[in-house]
Amino acid sequence: GPALSRRSLIAGVAGAAGLGVGATAIAARSTDAAGDATHGGDVVEFHGVHQAGVTTPPTAHVNYVGLDLSADRGPQAREALAGILRVWTEDAARLTRGTPALADSEPELARLPARLTVTVGLGPGAFTATGLEGRRPRWLHPLPAYPIDRLDERRWGQTDLLLQICSDDPVTVAHATRVLTANVAGRVRLRWVQRGFRNSRGSQDEKVTMRNLMGQVDGTVNLGPADSDTLVWDDGAEQPWFAGGTSMVLRRIAMDLDGWQEVDPRSQELSVGRTLTDGAPLSGGGEHDDPDFDKIVDGLPAIPASSHIARARHRTPTERFLRRGYNYDDPPEPDADGTIPISNSGLLFAAYQRDVDAQYVPVQARLAEHDALNQWTTPIGSAVYAVLPGARRGEVLGQGLLG
Ligand code: HEM
Repeated sequence: GPALSRRSLIAGVAGAAGLGVGATAIAARSTDAAGDATHGGDVVEFHGVHQAGVTTPPTAHVNYVGLDLSADRGPQAREALAGILRVWTEDAARLTRGTPALADSEPELARLPARLTVTVGLGPGAFTATGLEGRRPRWLHPLPAYPIDRLDERRWGQTDLLLQICSDDPVTVAHATRVLTANVAGRVRLRWVQRGFRNSRGSQDEKVTMRNLMGQVDGTVNLGPADSDTLVWDDGAEQPWFAGGTSMVLRRIAMDLDGWQEVDPRSQELSVGRTLTDGAPLSGGGEHDDPDFDKIVDGLPAIPASSHIARARHRTPTERFLRRGYNYDDPPEPDADGTIPISNSGLLFAAYQRDVDAQYVPVQARLAEHDALNQWTTPIGSAVYAVLPGARRGEVLGQGLLG
């Protein structure tokens, strides 16, 4: 009757119809058993001038998947790449709207996209193997070597291809990863999967900035939508086929959480230049107030010149990029002498910009030269990708490159 709450109605359905059917009924109602909104049905449009997953608000989960082309060089490799991009376009368009992929071994798992996005990038090797060097964006090459780097090339290095798979539901991420890799299995070799997460959807307001695993508020200063056309999306001036694409730098940065734990909170704050409680600049105000790097307190700069934000801050209007990273927290692995460390955590640092050399490298070089945070952070993986222009309805990703 009308006195029944929505909650008891749903519980009644589940109770009467058995667990499996009840679960379906709950999902279809877009509310869970407690009456809270569910997000499994949320769809991010796949087709468009740009690929989704770059300026799209970050989801709770990500898999970055690095793959190499298995074909030999030349026409064969070009044919293989064209085939891969056809499969990925078709499957991603379907999966992101909650429809099973064409050859989907577990079609039931496709029903809850939960803002699934699939973003495809090409590494330098994809251009070399296919004989398309002349069409490679100028900035698509490995970053310079930095003294702070301890890169494990074999495990987390550059690959020919990248899939970035984001969703608020880790089951969806697992399924999309499985389908997209299995459906091109003969043409690629999987190199690595880097799994990352942010706060769960719904655990706090979407507008609240995430915290990284060092406990810092991370992501306060970033590009806004108004900057995308000038600083993120390529305009096709150098490579007409690439208009609407962008670049991605993916750095796997390990955190020494044991060492960090030994540092007193005040020193922790001085190393970043912001407070731990709310991420406000040490020069005062709230999280989103501008830091004042000239402010002196008791004869010392309120924000040390060596702090992460003082070093990372752009010195020219060009040195800016979009940060859209995720935390990682993987099972600890024994080190060389067999000791198992307590944690294996860090940041999957992802930066997107029109031109890596002009926008990203100056900042990275400055941080590599000096950054107080470097004492507890170590880059162990590094790769650069050309994120393909988007596919409009009826188009295939990369068709401007491959014809
Ligand atoms: C700002 C953490 C690596 C570039 C920040 C902030 C934190 C942070 C807490 C302040 C809040 C914010 O504005 O987001 C970290 C950690 C890193 C790391 C823990 C490694 C594990 C990097 C790298 C780069 C970078 C590799 C680029 C090469 C920036 C920039 C800002 C920033 C541009 C904004 C600076 C400004 O105020 O203008 N980072 N970061 N960070 N970081 Fe990082």
